[in-house]
Amino acid sequence: MGARSATDTLKPADSDMSGMIEPPRGGYAIAANSPGLDQPLAVSIVVPTYNESKGVGEIVARLAAILETELPGRYEIIVVDDDSPDRTWAAAAALVSTYPALKVMRRVGERGLSSAVIRGWQAARGEVLGVIDADLQHPPEALLKLWGEMQRGAEMAVASRHVEGGGVSEWSMLRRIVSRGAQVIGLLILPDVVGRVADPMSGYFLVRRSVLSGVQLHPMGYKILIEVLGRARVRWISEVPYVFKERELGESKVTRKVYFDYLRHLLTLRWAKIPLTRFMRFALVGLSGVVVDMTFLFLLSDPSMLAWGLTRSKLIAAELAIVNNFFWNDVWTFRDRANDRRPQSRLRRFAKFQVICLMGVIINTVLLNVLFNFFGMNRYVANAVAIAVVTGWNYWLNLKISWRAKQPD
Ligand code: GDD
Ligand code: MN
Repeated sequence: MGARSATDTLKPADSDMSGMIEPPRGGYAIAANSPGLDQPLAVSIVVPTYNESKGVGEIVARLAAILETELPGRYEIIVVDDDSPDRTWAAAAALVSTYPALKVMRRVGERGLSSAVIRGWQAARGEVLGVIDADLQHPPEALLKLWGEMQRGAEMAVASRHVEGGGVSEWSMLRRIVSRGAQVIGLLILPDVVGRVADPMSGYFLVRRSVLSGVQLHPMGYKILIEVLGRARVRWISEVPYVFKERELGESKVTRKVYFDYLRHLLTLRWAKIPLTRFMRFALVGLSGVVVDMTFLFLLSDPSMLAWGLTRSKLIAAELAIVNNFFWNDVWTFRDRANDRRPQSRLRRFAKFQVICLMGVIINTVLLNVLFNFFGMNRYVANAVAIAVVTGWNYWLNLKISWRAKQPD
């Protein structure tokens, strides 16, 4: 079978695979209302899978048995598979005729536990969204206790190994130390998030859609709960004990990268929670551009270095600063407006940014020359003054043109 492109997701290679749903694209925001249904479902449980074809049947059967009793006709189970080599998505799709409440999403070209869960929630129709692992290490039976807490009014119910009655079965001392160590690091970097629950590493919980709607999520790695607690405003959180079981089928996908992603995730959330307005972020990026600009102006034009002509040096230094600033503005300052990460879209944004900044560089260079040659100002002070003047120009134009807010359709 030839290489599959992303669009193939919609046309499974095998016979009709009804129950397949299309993976959402673009940003990771959750809609305020359940899409495609005037009468929303009560709960949607997402099961992220990667190489779980042996066990996916059992988790679906056990979830369906529990939910069919508790919420007949008002639930759905969404398996989100990342195009597993063992074709978990096909194994799950073959179950749809037996379990009508089962939906299967096959992602091609996008991978990761957290992003899989959020794509599942984006396609979900429930008022309450949930996640559970496919490998039965999260006992499905605990779902009833989680649902009970949501019925009591909780905005989030977390299955926790670290509350009275919870625990892990036969974990090696090393894994316990690593897991607890990760938690301590989380408490040091992000105490106001990681400290909210006893088991912030849990990948088994329910959360109200209303808590997530309108929140820009930026999933990274494994820790979906930390992403939700770090970005959404969750007031009432309930923790329900459970015992994390030994995996019987398949193997854990946790690699060293998961731990690096976890650290990167903590630092990203920490940075994101610093109350910086967009203009402050833009100005900070501009400051980094000043460092790039000044450094290369010195290296290229200073008599003690290459001693090139001032204007030639300035133009090269400015262009390098523009590339630097575009990168940081695209991934940070205007990130919420840069959801389309495809290269051609980024190139389009860069072209607009470039034109606006080039006009800014011309203004900057003219100002620099006027201040340096006619007012005898020190070249570096003159450059700084010129940059400050141009920053306002650049911010406003880029906000309106390069990263224009999407018109509500
Ligand atoms: N779609 C998708 N994409 N699913 C994935 C991926 C991925 O890249 N990686 C893992 N999964 C699925 C697995 O198939 C399984 O269903 C679930 O995510 C958990 O993966 P494991 O590899 O079994 O993780 P773990 O058991 O070591 O840790 C789990 O439990 C901990 C305690 O709740 C994870 O959920 C951790 O996040 C959690 O802290
Ligand atoms: Mn597992």
